[in-house]
Amino acid sequence: MITHTAAVAANALRAGHLVALPTETVYGLGADAANPSALARLYAVKGRPIDHPSIVHLADLAEARTGWSSTWPAAAERLAEAFWPGPLTIVLPAGTRPDPAALGGTGTVALRIPDCDLTREAIRLSGAGIAAPSANRFGRVSPTTVQHVLDDLGSDVDLILDGGPCTVGVESTIVDLTGAAPRILRPGAITAEMLEAALGISLSTSLETAPRAPGTLAAHYAPRLPVVVVESLEEAISLTDRQIALVADASDPRLSPQPPHVLALLDTGDSAESYAERLYSLLRQADTSGADLLVAVLPPIGGVGDAIRDRLTRAATSA
Ligand code: TXA
Ligand code: MG
Repeated sequence: MITHTAAVAANALRAGHLVALPTETVYGLGADAANPSALARLYAVKGRPIDHPSIVHLADLAEARTGWSSTWPAAAERLAEAFWPGPLTIVLPAGTRPDPAALGGTGTVALRIPDCDLTREAIRLSGAGIAAPSANRFGRVSPTTVQHVLDDLGSDVDLILDGGPCTVGVESTIVDLTGAAPRILRPGAITAEMLEAALGISLSTSLETAPRAPGTLAAHYAPRLPVVVVESLEEAISLTDRQIALVADASDPRLSPQPPHVLALLDTGDSAESYAERLYSLLRQADTSGADLLVAVLPPIGGVGDAIRDRLTRAATSA
């Protein structure tokens, strides 16, 4: 069932049901983060290992300060003030309010206030914190539309709150505040530079060597087709021995006329922002294009381009 009403979603969440919720990043599959049977069903439906923690989504900052984490350090306050509601997840030592089943045995909790009025209202009316991994089966590409959620989860999702397509399109930046210094566990639209400006310190920026969020496998961001990433359109055009689905800026004059080995031209638009917004739709389209290889031209380094590069590079190494 699909609803456009926050109160309907809130009632379902309170009753322990699984509700797909729109956010600015991707759709989440929400369950009451204090209800162990709802969480058990969430993990079963996703096919997700129980030691893989879920982000707890909250309605507002006052709620975030009260018992979800055992500490609320100055760094959390600064980041929350700067970026919430928004695509940032903050990891802290767990408090007493989340059920351990949401935490995957980590003893820590990942908190986020999403930038979506409809979902924040549903969470507020539910009176709960909402554990919400991306609303896809474990190992599949994240959903950015209601149709993606339906295609992947079908009748296993009790209700979908329809907020339209997600605008950011890639998952939130995760920053871990449980260690001696803040660490980025997953890049997203909030960049290292933005975090550094808000915190007034410099962060380790080497994402290649940084520890990953627990349970983050390369295959998580991969479509079914094998993926090759290239830095330039020239390189993609030269791969003439395969029938490819090409992820690139379709307005580039070098693609008119469309090269014969490009079976599907999947348009990123001409900015990193449009690329991010479309990324997971394009990966799904590639899977149904009939091509035998997906070739993605990476966006330049910087901004949300780093998150796109992270997801695509991981998809390519898992092929
Ligand atoms: O944008 C997003 O973050 C979306 C929307 C729905 O909010 N959610 C999302 O959830 O991407 P998921 O479960 O697909 O990815 C969450 C990541 C996982 O890699 C998980 O390991 C990490 O967050 N995570 C969750 N709790 C954590 C914790 N306590 N410590 C470290 N990492 C954690
Ligand atoms: Mg996910």
